[in-house]
Amino acid sequence: MRDGKIPVIIDCDPGHDDAVALALAFGSGQFDVKGVTTVAGNSTVDNTYANALKFLSFIGVCVEVAKGAAKPLLRQLTVAPNVHGTTGLDGTDLGDSRLKGSGRSAVELLTEILRTSSEKITLIPTGPLTNIATLFLAAPEVKENVEQIVLMGGAALEGNWTPAAEFNIFVDPEAARIVFESGVPITMVGLDVTHKALIYPDEIEALRKQGRIGKAIAELMDFYGIFYRKQFKGNPVHDAVAVAAVMCPDIISTQHLNVSVETCGEFTRGMTVVDFRGVTGKDPNCNVALGLDRESFIDLIFDAVRKLDESGAV
Ligand code: BDR
Ligand code: CA
Repeated sequence: MRDGKIPVIIDCDPGHDDAVALALAFGSGQFDVKGVTTVAGNSTVDNTYANALKFLSFIGVCVEVAKGAAKPLLRQLTVAPNVHGTTGLDGTDLGDSRLKGSGRSAVELLTEILRTSSEKITLIPTGPLTNIATLFLAAPEVKENVEQIVLMGGAALEGNWTPAAEFNIFVDPEAARIVFESGVPITMVGLDVTHKALIYPDEIEALRKQGRIGKAIAELMDFYGIFYRKQFKGNPVHDAVAVAAVMCPDIISTQHLNVSVETCGEFTRGMTVVDFRGVTGKDPNCNVALGLDRESFIDLIFDAVRKLDESGAV
C-alpha cells in the first residue's frame, strides 16, 4: 500500500461484484474517488445508474455519480439478468437513494475531472468499456492525465459469456479495442485471476454478521451465488479485484504482453488475444494479471466492509 490517497474514477455497471468493488474503494480509506460513472452492461444504464446511487447512498458516501452510455458503440446491448437479476442488483433492499445523480453525462464528468486535475488519475472500469472509449474519441488529450487503467475484463485463457470471451469485453468489443490500443498503461484483471477471487459460503456468513452493510452484501452474494455456485465453490467477486489491484499491486502477479481484442470472429467476438510468445512482433500494451493472493484479497474486503459499518452510516 502506498502513502497518500490514490485518485481514481470508477466506471461501473452495478452489478453485485461492482457493488463490492465500490464498497472496497470507499471503505478502504485508500482512495480519493473523484467520481463514479455508470454504463449499460449487467443491466440497462437506467438500472446501473439507479443501483450505483442506491448502493453508494446505502453505504453512506457522497460522490458525484454520472450516467453514461445506454448501449455499446456499434452493437445492441447484451445484459446479464441470469447473473444479476432483472434490476441488475437483485437480492437485497437498499432503500431509496439520498444521493442525487449528476446533471452531467459520464463523458462530461470524466472529461472535466481529467482536464482539471493537477495529478494523474487511475481509471477503474468494471463494466463494458463504452464510456472510456467514447471519452478517448471525444477528448483524446485527457489520456495524458490518466495514470493507468486497471480494468476488470477479458482473460488470457478462458471466457465466461462465450467459450472465448469475458462478458465486459464481449458486450462492447469495439470500445475495448479502442481502449487497449489507446497507449495508456493498462492492467487487465481478467477471468484468469477473478475466477480465483472466490468468496466462500462461510466467509459470506461471517460478512452477514458484520453489521448492516455486511448483511446487505451477504444478501447480494446469496443472489449472485445462485448463478455461480453451479460452477464454483464460492462466488467470484470479479470487479473488486481491479480495485484491490490498484490499492495493493502485489495482490496480483502480471506479465507485460500484447493483447488484441477480437471484434468480428464468428466464435470469438470479444476475445482478448494474449500474445504469450511474442509471435505477433507487436509491442506489449498490457499487464495481464495471471496470479492472485486470494486470502489477502478477502481480508481487504472484510476490512473495508467493517470500516463502512463502523462509520455508522445509516
Ligand atoms: C464481469 O461481468 C459482469 O457480470 C460482472 O459485473 C463483471 O464485471 C465478469 O465477467
Ligand atoms: Ca461489472
